[in-house]
Amino acid sequence: MENRKIVILTGAGMSAESGISTFRDSDGLWEHYPVQQVASIEGYEENPELVLNFYNARRKELLNVKPNHGHLMVAALEKYFNVTVITQNVDNLHERAGSSHVIHLHGELMKATSTRNPNDPSCIEELTPERCEIHLGDKAADGSQLRPYIVWFGESVPKFEEAVNEASTADIFIIIGTSMQVYPAAGLIRYIRPDTQVYLIDPKEVKVYSSQRVHTIRKGASEGMDELLKILLNC
Ligand code: APR
Repeated sequence: MENRKIVILTGAGMSAESGISTFRDSDGLWEHYPVQQVASIEGYEENPELVLNFYNARRKELLNVKPNHGHLMVAALEKYFNVTVITQNVDNLHERAGSSHVIHLHGELMKATSTRNPNDPSCIEELTPERCEIHLGDKAADGSQLRPYIVWFGESVPKFEEAVNEASTADIFIIIGTSMQVYPAAGLIRYIRPDTQVYLIDPKEVKVYSSQRVHTIRKGASEGMDELLKILLNC
């Protein structure tokens, strides 16, 4: 293994080939569910049951899908490089593909936490395939209503600082399957060094505000990762 460090920022497009909908493509999740209702702290306060049911359904969906070839290739990079994955995705497909260092900026579907203290580590608990639903009346360790461990719009992003530390020490920064419209995640690229190589894999054009040259691979995650692996391994 060489010691070059790769940091990979992934979004919903990374999991699209596994059968999970993206958010902003046509027919994306936000076309079917009002984002303010199911993904904001105000929406949760207004109608917690609707929000709990939305994430219960997302969890069921996750239990029926598998990592795709793109996830596997991201994990395979660990054979050659020191790799950190920073994902906006709340699924666990990177981990199931074998990636060993994954930072979830927007939380994790298979975890639950307290409504009163969502970022208190002693309140964060794992859900299991057998017990994967959260209902009104379920209690967290601090006695408050149990809620999904998801970072909603209107909430702070506690893992951002850790992500910045990783991005700022990357030799190679790879962006896969994100429209780069949601901050602070999309702003991570501002923290990379001037000499960091930047690659972007997405079938659509994505605007990236970067002073570095961005090598774009206009393909889906799986095909794109195959092409990128050849470039990185010089074969
Ligand atoms: N492979 C790679 N990329 C793909 C694929 C694919 N097979 N299919 C679609 N894409 C790309 C789209 O072209 C788009 O650029 O994935 C991107 C998905 O963008 P969004 O739906 O906006 O998802 P994302 O960027 O992850 O959203 C960020 O917004 O609502 C919040 O919290 C939610 O984490 C999410 C955040």
